[in-house]
Amino acid sequence: MKAIVYTEYGSPDVLHLKEIAKPSPKDNEVLIRNYATTVNFGDLMARNFKAISPSKFNMPLFFWLPTLLAFGLGKPRNHILGSEFAGDVEAVGKSVMRFKPGDQVFGYLGQSMGAYAEYFCMSENGVVAIKPANMTYEEAAVVPYGAIMALSLLRKADLQSGQKVLINGASGGIGSAAVQIARNLGAEVTGVCGTLRLDFVKSLGAAKVIDYTKEDFTQNGETYDLIFDILGKSSFSRCQNSLKQNGRYLLASFKMKQLLQMLWTSMFGSKRVICAVAPGSVEDLNSVKELIEAGKIKAVIDRCSPMEQAAEAHRYVEEGYKKGNVVITMRVSKREENEH
Ligand SMILES: NC(=O)c1ccc[n+]([C@@H]2O[C@H](COP(=O)([O-])OP(=O)(O)OC[C@H]3O[C@@H](n4cnc5c(N)ncnc54)[C@H](OP(=O)(O)O)[C@@H]3O)[C@@H](O)[C@H]2O)c1
Repeated sequence: MKAIVYTEYGSPDVLHLKEIAKPSPKDNEVLIRNYATTVNFGDLMARNFKAISPSKFNMPLFFWLPTLLAFGLGKPRNHILGSEFAGDVEAVGKSVMRFKPGDQVFGYLGQSMGAYAEYFCMSENGVVAIKPANMTYEEAAVVPYGAIMALSLLRKADLQSGQKVLINGASGGIGSAAVQIARNLGAEVTGVCGTLRLDFVKSLGAAKVIDYTKEDFTQNGETYDLIFDILGKSSFSRCQNSLKQNGRYLLASFKMKQLLQMLWTSMFGSKRVICAVAPGSVEDLNSVKELIEAGKIKAVIDRCSPMEQAAEAHRYVEEGYKKGNVVITMRVSKREENEH
């Protein structure tokens, strides 16, 4: 079988299409015949993790060290990227109960990755579920990471219908899902992103969009019940005046300083800092599937590239061109045979 393999950290040029052995499922595993995966924030980070110093890492130092050890010190330990996927169950181990061969599935492999391959095995108890009926494999592959993270993180902020939310980083994997989920909860959404992606964020349902290269949202006099900052580019001190009474400042990326602010604001004052981690669960994936099937989350695909063009796909994302998601497709002809 074919896989996109990398054996050293570096630029997109470290990605090579190779022939490797097809895996066999253990007793509790399913073998997935994979049709589509994506290029997301985690893939770019894992591909070049040696360039991510503790100061560049968007999480506290005590997360950086285990992440470095998990990814590999001088060289990557796992040689296949890809955290999101959609495909078919090809075979199951003898104790598998949840799936059978032929099931169409989608899911999220998290930091262990491995979806840049035509086949991979995962535990049946991993973050995998039956694919939404109203999506193609390509569409289903682009949703899990961002939507699971956005759903889980937004829950921690208890967003209510009628509230005003600002999402800083609204055009990325997590932000684009957060815009859709918040809007469907009945919130009024303002999305902050770069110039190229203003229309994209508007198309997701944001009532207002702000270009961070031209305007500082903390200076326009607007106030919000919730400010959700994905990359942690703002700061609580600058956002305080943009938060309503009892407003929440939710961070997907944070450092020790923000953890201390969370502790402090949980005891004093009416405005709270919330730093949250979303591990990703099958329950969240099933909630995401329901939202997709109810038409509340859509997949936006910028482009699909075959496996042979994985390096170009990484370059396209890294250079900041994408509007929506970039898909890497596998074995398209075989999939089309199955669909017809
Ligand atoms: N807490 C958790 O459990 C958890 C889980 C997974 C990931 N994360 C964190 O989430 C982050 C990745 O999120 P993602 O996958 O959504 O990333 P992404 O797809 O790369 O999107 C990044 C977003 O940030 C925007 N942005 C870039 N510079 C900005 C600035 N100066 N001001 C405001 N917005 C800016 C981008 O806008 P443009 O592209 O339009 O310029 C884009 O909307 C990482 O820091 C990661 O550590 C946290």
